Amino acid sequence: MNESADTPVIAIHDLHKSYGSLEVLKGVDLIAPRGHVVSLIGSSGSGKSTLLRCCNLLEDSQQGEIFFEGEPVRWKGEGLGRHPADRGQVTRMRTNLSMVFQQFNLWSHMTILQNVMEAPVTVMKRDPRQVEAKAREYLTKVGIADKADAWPAMLSGGQQQRAAIARALCMEPRALLFDEPTSALDPELEQEVIRVIKALADEGRTMLLVTHDMKLAADVSDHVIFLHQGKIEEQGPPSTLFSAPKTDRLRGFLSAGAH
Ligand SMILES: Nc1ncnc2c1ncn2[C@@H]1O[C@H](COP(=O)(O)OP(=O)(O)O)[C@@H](O)[C@H]1O
Ligand SMILES: [Mg+2]
Repeated sequence: MNESADTPVIAIHDLHKSYGSLEVLKGVDLIAPRGHVVSLIGSSGSGKSTLLRCCNLLEDSQQGEIFFEGEPVRWKGEGLGRHPADRGQVTRMRTNLSMVFQQFNLWSHMTILQNVMEAPVTVMKRDPRQVEAKAREYLTKVGIADKADAWPAMLSGGQQQRAAIARALCMEPRALLFDEPTSALDPELEQEVIRVIKALADEGRTMLLVTHDMKLAADVSDHVIFLHQGKIEEQGPPSTLFSAPKTDRLRGFLSAGAH
């Protein structure tokens, strides 16, 4: 399937997405090379979450192509009637592009360990004993090994988000997709999650990161994309994008203190 070391984990070409008559993505291209961190920034409503959710097929799109490790998503139908044609491919992509949400989305009726083990065991049918060993490893990595048997409600927001990151890691995905992972957290708890994200970037994990935190984007990204009203307004390496924005829109966005 056309996979080589330099095949991007995710490649998107000319993606269009509407909710009914509202066009939210108006022809977006994106490449996430293996081992790179690509950040998406832009005002609220610019389409960042939608783009992320289109990447792992949580949302349909009406036009354009999405490639996972060189493999094109297969579609059936057209326009608003276009959907992925191959359920197996959808599952494979979802489990390989694992998502960390703003609101953690842990199951409240499962312990932290059970949350982390859930998808590998039930969706991916992996051996529970091996998954448990991995799950404990990832909980250790994010610094909450001692919370394995706790319920989500017993954890702080920062600990819950680190559990959600361990859950994403336990699927051993090809890329991690973060949607504003720190924006539901108090400032002092944000830092413990930021430390984990930085460590993952240093390990060379492929990541797509939607964030309102320009310092984080500047620190961890190889490439930053500024979305404005569903289009890429400007993009580049963080060193130039943040210090020498070319467009008035990006200048305005950065000087308004983001959001
Ligand atoms: N499920 C939905 N139904 C209808 N409109 C939506 C839905 N989700 C998002 N939108 C709209 O799409 C646009 C982009 O939203 P979103 O991708 O969430 O932006 P961002 O993450 O950059 O804040 C907004 O105008 C939003 O209101
Ligand atoms: Mg969003």
